Amino acid sequence: MAEVGIDTKKAVHLLEQGELVAIPTETVYGLAGNALNKQAVTKIFTVKDRPQFDPLIVHVADLKSAKEFVTEIPSVAHTLVDKFWPGPVTLVLKKKKIIPDLVTAGLETVGIRCPDHPLTLQLLKKLSFPLAAPSANPFGYVSPTKAEHVEEQLGSKIQYILDGGTCSVGIESTIVGFENNEPVVYRLGGLSLEHIESTIGKIRVMTHSTSNPKAPGQLLSHYSPAKKVFLGSIEELLQTYPAHLAGILTFQKDFNSPFQFVLSPSGSLEEAAQNIFEALRSFDKLPVDVILAERVPDTGLGRAINDRLQRAAIK
Ligand code: TXA
Ligand code: MG
Repeated sequence: MAEVGIDTKKAVHLLEQGELVAIPTETVYGLAGNALNKQAVTKIFTVKDRPQFDPLIVHVADLKSAKEFVTEIPSVAHTLVDKFWPGPVTLVLKKKKIIPDLVTAGLETVGIRCPDHPLTLQLLKKLSFPLAAPSANPFGYVSPTKAEHVEEQLGSKIQYILDGGTCSVGIESTIVGFENNEPVVYRLGGLSLEHIESTIGKIRVMTHSTSNPKAPGQLLSHYSPAKKVFLGSIEELLQTYPAHLAGILTFQKDFNSPFQFVLSPSGSLEEAAQNIFEALRSFDKLPVDVILAERVPDTGLGRAINDRLQRAAIK
């Protein structure tokens, strides 16, 4: 079992030895290792059981540190960094050689971000290297938003989990790349399109791996809990799946079922984002066969929540 605590010195020590440590961020927990150490990065893929074609995000303490690992920062990327770092946006930029190809799955670009969590920022400032960190879950499963989630699934494979409480955003970072200097969203996430567009204007969204080889990790089926997810109108789905066999996942509505999770009774998309992964996980422990889920309003963080629900529903 992994030790769970808030000892950043211990985390530094383990990471310096090439070991992995689970770290809290504002989005989801990450499974972190020295991004410049190929052995440590190899361990990340092994512990997660993740295919090596899926590139990792590199975490840094600030823009100054990011500059050590990328060859250029387009002016639009600068604007995003000024406005939103530390925060839930990852930038895909041309990498310097010092970043191993293993981290980027052979791509010439690297996904880089500065996470907004006090413990992890403290940790990054103490380290002399950046941290490669995918979400700290077995490949294909729902991302963890609490130290307990990591402990349950990866606790036997790592030594230490830095406990930063419940993630305040709750869904992974928004990923923005640049094609001919034009910004493109590769993954919807914790920074809404509205926030991005209010800063840099209209942005293209290209989130499917089939049409977008630049985001190989954007697999259609992902974020899947153990139970099968059906997405649609709950009332209609309940005509096919009897209520006593079904977990019900709604945005606001109470179906009076013992096996339901209401994402936000007050209708807040921020609250729904904080709860979505916990909700999907919770049904694994309930005596239900399937999860019946409805989409949330498709604006703000709702777009990213719907994206995760959609991927969870594809098997
Ligand atoms: O919020 C987050 O981003 C969390 C926390 C821990 O920081 N991390 C995270 O990592 O969600 P992960 O490994 O679950 O997702 C990383 C995804 C890849 O699957 C891929 O889609 C994209 O980031 N990515 C990484 N590097 C890329 C690159 N060079 N080009 C295009 N996409 C990239
Ligand atoms: Mg992930």
